[in-house]
Amino acid sequence: MFADDEARVLRRWAADDRQVDDWVRRRAVGEPLEHIVGRVEFGGLDLYVGPGVFVPRRRSLLLAEVVVEQVVTDQITDRDSVVVEACCGVAPIGAVVRDRALRTPVMLADVEGRALAFARRNVPGADVYEGELLAALPPRVRGRVAVIAAVPPYVPDSQARLLPAEATDHEPRRALFGGSDGLDTVRLLLEQSLDYLVRGDDLVRGGVVALEMHRSQAATAQEVAASHGYRTRIVLGDDGQTVVLLASVV
Ligand SMILES: C[S@@+](CC[C@H](N)C(=O)[O-])C[C@H]1O[C@@H](n2cnc3c(N)ncnc32)[C@H](O)[C@@H]1O
Repeated sequence: MFADDEARVLRRWAADDRQVDDWVRRRAVGEPLEHIVGRVEFGGLDLYVGPGVFVPRRRSLLLAEVVVEQVVTDQITDRDSVVVEACCGVAPIGAVVRDRALRTPVMLADVEGRALAFARRNVPGADVYEGELLAALPPRVRGRVAVIAAVPPYVPDSQARLLPAEATDHEPRRALFGGSDGLDTVRLLLEQSLDYLVRGDDLVRGGVVALEMHRSQAATAQEVAASHGYRTRIVLGDDGQTVVLLASVV
């Protein structure tokens, strides 16, 4: 974002000129803009966010759009099944799904209580669960989930130096890094999702896991998914870097 755009965001949310001055001082020493103003624009929505939590990235709109397409195509609301945003943070994907497909039941899960406080405000009425990945979900949704969507932490540990200080100094480590190849959480989600997704039959298509990652990780993630029996498809974003892995149970 350019300085002019940042100034517009600061002015939009500040109560008065004194607050603008205070916020400019915080911004000048590197605090992320979104943590300062407490908002992030995502998919036409103004979401709540704040210090100490991961700020949704614009690139994740690809995942949101892919998930909405799944929901609309499958008419999930007619199927007594739900959409889960795992690793939800402040829940940008859940918020867009709720905005575009109003009746769809949305469940949110994350291990960070601080992020979940914002998620509750961003997706009013969603069921929110705090805990480790899908183990946080109630057992009653096993076999009932139509879509499990996630932006997991997927930066390889060794690439920390490539991230901007705004991320490494102000966002939780756990929100960013995914092990030596970045895919530790992707592997766990693919394995755990098998217990939660709707199984296909003649009338109903099987459930889908939709995971954001970097293009360079897609081939390995597809192999992992195939080893669990998923059918896979990759959707490449306009930035040429971000992909969504779609893995469907057959
Ligand atoms: C890259 S952030 C994405 C957050 C949100 N989906 C977004 O796009 O803004 C990853 C999220 O995964 C959560 N997370 C990491 N490891 C987790 C685990 N083992 N169980 C549950 N959540 C986890 C972090 O707390 C963080 O909120």
